[in-house]
Amino acid sequence: MDRYGVFGNPIGHSKSPQIHALFAAQTGHALCYEALLAPLDDFPGFARAFFRDGQGANVTVPFKEQAYGMADQLTERARRAGAVNTLKKLEDGRLLGDNTDGAGLVSDLLNAGVALRGQRILLLGAGGAVRGVLEPLLAQKPAALIVANRTPSKAEQLAQEFGALGPLSASAFADLAEPVDLIINGTSASLGGELPPLADSLIRPGQTFCYDMMYAATPTAFCQWAAALGANTRDGLGMLVEQAAEAFELWRGVRPDTAPVLAEMRRQLS
Ligand code: ATR
Repeated sequence: MDRYGVFGNPIGHSKSPQIHALFAAQTGHALCYEALLAPLDDFPGFARAFFRDGQGANVTVPFKEQAYGMADQLTERARRAGAVNTLKKLEDGRLLGDNTDGAGLVSDLLNAGVALRGQRILLLGAGGAVRGVLEPLLAQKPAALIVANRTPSKAEQLAQEFGALGPLSASAFADLAEPVDLIINGTSASLGGELPPLADSLIRPGQTFCYDMMYAATPTAFCQWAAALGANTRDGLGMLVEQAAEAFELWRGVRPDTAPVLAEMRRQLS
């Protein structure tokens, strides 16, 4: 049976095995997909050993940059992201590195009926998660994409690096006041139940859509703040399912239907 897995450390919490099992059942593909705890001190050795008989793997925290470093070939979007979340063994045994996170975010937003073209979008954070989604968001041709971060210099750095791809600018949280169409939280603040310091005036009640790339059994602090101000909200569980679907398609050549899988994952989370 073809073997797949997800490398991370820690990895016990990963929902990827369940998502890929649902995709495999739905598409009738016989495969095995496991969560694999990779050692912090020898990720490349662990990954190479897996690929002696493994066909493909997802990569999560903290190994996405190392996976980028060890891939023999990179997709354009992985090259720009500087990080790899999906590895595929090619026929000649070399490893292809891809990054499906940004495509997953865009697909989930479009599934939710959120317009991106011509919209004013605010993206919070400037870490690895945000770097991975900048190019796919700009490819949707927003009117403006503002990246804001607690440490403003990191947002400025990203604006310089990706500015040639579209209307990208950087801002500090304190300088944000004008309403926007969409706010995407790509900070890890939600993990600690925290919220970036944002002006309420950013939200136009009933119009602004707020998306948290994190998810939890109960609404994140960011989604609670946004909902209290009258925004429509969505968490990142759908992004997780969509990035997995993109990886499954790269490996197996078939795109799974994500809607029933997202519904099942939501049911299990609550
Ligand atoms: P990830 O891979 O999830 O992006 P990361 O690269 O460590 O993780 O980046 C975390 C991001 O969340 C950063 O943008 C960080 O802001 P700084 O660059 O100023 O550190 C942001 N972040 C983390 N905790 C935060 C908080 N409590 N409030 C606001 N931003 C926070």
